[in-house]
Amino acid sequence: MEKMWAGRFKKELSEKVNDFNSSITVDSRMYAEDIKGSIAHATMLGATGILKASDTDKIVDGLFAVLSDIESGALEIDSTAEDIHMFVEAELTKRIGEAGKMLHTARSRNDQVALDTKLYTLVQIDEIAFLTKELIETILKLAKEHKSTIMCGYTHLQKAQPITFAEHILAYANMLMRDVTRLSDCKVRMNLSPLGSCALAGTTYCIDRQMTAKALGFDGVVANSIDGVSDRDYCIELASAISIIMMHLSRFSEEIILWNSWEFKYIELDDAYATGSSIMPQKKNPDIAELVRGKTARTYGDLITLLTMMKALPLAYNKDMQEDKEALFDSIDTVKLCLPIFSDMLSTMTVLSENMAKSAECGFINATDCADYLTKKSVPFRTAYKITGNIVAYCIDIKKTLNSLDLEEYKQFESLFENDIYEAVDMKNCVEKRTSEGAPSLKSVEKQIELVEAFLQK
Ligand code: ARG
Repeated sequence: MEKMWAGRFKKELSEKVNDFNSSITVDSRMYAEDIKGSIAHATMLGATGILKASDTDKIVDGLFAVLSDIESGALEIDSTAEDIHMFVEAELTKRIGEAGKMLHTARSRNDQVALDTKLYTLVQIDEIAFLTKELIETILKLAKEHKSTIMCGYTHLQKAQPITFAEHILAYANMLMRDVTRLSDCKVRMNLSPLGSCALAGTTYCIDRQMTAKALGFDGVVANSIDGVSDRDYCIELASAISIIMMHLSRFSEEIILWNSWEFKYIELDDAYATGSSIMPQKKNPDIAELVRGKTARTYGDLITLLTMMKALPLAYNKDMQEDKEALFDSIDTVKLCLPIFSDMLSTMTVLSENMAKSAECGFINATDCADYLTKKSVPFRTAYKITGNIVAYCIDIKKTLNSLDLEEYKQFESLFENDIYEAVDMKNCVEKRTSEGAPSLKSVEKQIELVEAFLQK
């Protein structure tokens, strides 16, 4: 196919270079955005009198026909075309003749590609936010079922303090809530139309940028034409927001993998959400969580690709920027793949509450409560800490727990110990006494649940 820019060239582009230069296999997914953008542009050219009404009508009707033919499968996108913009324009011209050649008046592929990518990305952001909210919903449901499921909380992956399963997973709900707000934040900055920036320096035609921006649902226009064509911050911001979502899913995956191991056995993954080994008949592997953790790497890679691609580019458009879409789309596709399957994995797994409770019984996770008991009897915290440390060391030696130690033994360390120490170190009480805001007591967790519910209703 002859190139639209063939005018100043004496030779045809070599096939190899054509393949190298082409981005159609990547950007063809933006065909609907490209056509919508062109319809808005042509309508504006008609309204401002730059094009005759009859030509505008032919272009708009022709574009609608191309759109519906691509959608129905009647028109196949030519994989040898340079990009989706060239393909649509060439197809239009093939169908309507001369009028088709007027579409690109007062426009460049530079503002066109920025427009298409923004239009595509804006829709994707909504979809990612929706899927993230669905995952929050799944976590919320689990949290509601496990408000009283005692679990061991960790720091340094060492047993630390008693919590509940609800408290633990609500931490993830909070991370994901921040993710949703990050997505809508980047949408606010992204939502300005670059159309009309043209190649880089606007145009001598009296175009109406506000009109096309409004027709396409933007909040306004990019204020500077050079910025309009050379900005890719919106891709980077989204890839960064996605990387953070994936980082959260990856941390959660890591815990699922640990909890599903024989060493922990806090949960049992559903058979439909785990896989076997080709050689070891006993295996039930947490492949979904592992793959989500693994795929996090590619979203980081995509973010670094975008940042590195942009780091030394002079203004305005450079062909390097064609590489943006592969990274951006990969990152969008990856997070959209991971969010729903992760959610399904969580909602189908069995929480083994008894194992969690049993594990919480050992490891002296109520030692802080023992020290707090003495502190409340006027022993300075550091002294109470030391006494409790000595008691723990003693218990380890004689294989006892803080709950099974005799009162006489307690008294050997500090005479202030009374019978109520057993209440103080009882795991359930340890959790219930943690009533500070955001803590694991039933009341505090219920308040947290309300906050998540309010967020989801927004
Ligand atoms: N396929 C190109 C891209 O994705 C479209 C813009 C081309 N602009 C140009 N001046 N060659 O970036």
